[in-house]
Amino acid sequence: MTDTSALRARNADFWAQAAPGWITHADWHDEVGRPLGAAALDWLRLRPGERVLDVGCGCGGATAELAAAVAPSGSAVGLDLAAAMVAAARARFAAPGLRYLVGDIETLDRVPGAPFDAVHSRMALMLFADPVAGLTTIRRSLRTGGRLAATVFRDGGANPWLPAAMLGAAPFLGAMPPLPIGDEPGPFAFADPARVTRLLTAAGFTDVAVVAQDVALEPPEDPEAVAAWLIEIGPAGAAYRAALPSAQKSARAGAARLLERFRTAGNGYRLPAGCWLITATTPEPARGQE
Ligand SMILES: C[S@@+](CC[C@H](N)C(=O)[O-])C[C@H]1O[C@@H](n2cnc3c(N)ncnc32)[C@H](O)[C@@H]1O
Repeated sequence: MTDTSALRARNADFWAQAAPGWITHADWHDEVGRPLGAAALDWLRLRPGERVLDVGCGCGGATAELAAAVAPSGSAVGLDLAAAMVAAARARFAAPGLRYLVGDIETLDRVPGAPFDAVHSRMALMLFADPVAGLTTIRRSLRTGGRLAATVFRDGGANPWLPAAMLGAAPFLGAMPPLPIGDEPGPFAFADPARVTRLLTAAGFTDVAVVAQDVALEPPEDPEAVAAWLIEIGPAGAAYRAALPSAQKSARAGAARLLERFRTAGNGYRLPAGCWLITATTPEPARGQE
C-alpha cells in the first residue's frame, strides 16, 4: 500500500489534471449530476441563517445551492483542492455569503469560516488520501451538535457505467494515471459501510449512519456529448485532451460503444448510481478535549 504523502500528491495531481474537463462540462454536470447529492441536501434541512461548508466543491454548483438554502442571512463556503476549479466556481457563482476557498481538507486544522452548522459533501470523501485526517478537520470545523451529510459511490457493481468511458477510450489514448488499489483514494474506496463507520467514529463523529441510496443519472440522448463528458471528468481526461482530434474521435466512439447498454433508443440514457448517504453529528466535547 502506498504511503499517505504519496497518495496525497497523487490526489492533488489527479485533480489538477482533471480540472479542465470538470470546468468544460460544469453546467452539464451540475444538471445531470444533481441526483448524486440530493439525499444529503434533503437530510441537512438547511435553514436561513445557517453557516454551511461544502467539502470537495469542484466547480461550485452544489455550494451555490447550499447558499440559496441558507439565504439571506446565512453563508456557504466551498472548499476544494483544485485551484482551477475554485477559480471556475468563483467565476460561475456570486451571492452574498458565498465563498470558495482552495485547500486540502486533510492538512487544514479548521476550515476558514468555522464553526459551521452543517457540512455537505458530494462524491468527495472517498478521495481523501488520509480519510481520518480529512474527516477530523470536518469535525473540528463544525460546531457542537453540527451535522454532516455526504454522498459517496458504493461499489463498482452498483455503478457499472462508471469505468465504461475510460475503458472504451483508453485503447486510443496515451498513458492513464495509476488506478487505485484496495482502499486507496478512488470512486469505490468507501464501498464497505463498516469501514466508513469506523473512519467517521475514529474522526470523533457520533450518530453515524450509512444508508444505501439508488439514483439514476439521465443525461440527454447524445452519445458524443455523453462520451466526451464522462471521458473528460475521469482518469482518461488528461490523455484525451493531449490526443490528436482523430484519436479523440475514436476515443469518444469507443466510450459511446461501452455506454450503449445504458441507452434505450428514444428514451435516452439511464446510468444507475448506487451511493451511500453518510450522516453524522458532532458530540459535546469531553472535558479537557479540544
Ligand atoms: C468527484 S469531484 C466532485 C465535485 C463536486 N462535489 C460535485 O459533485 O460536482 C471530487 C472533488 O473533491 C476534491 N477533493 C479531493 N480530495 C480533496 C481534499 N483532500 N481536500 C479538498 N478537496 C478534495 C477534488 O478536487 C474534486 O473537485
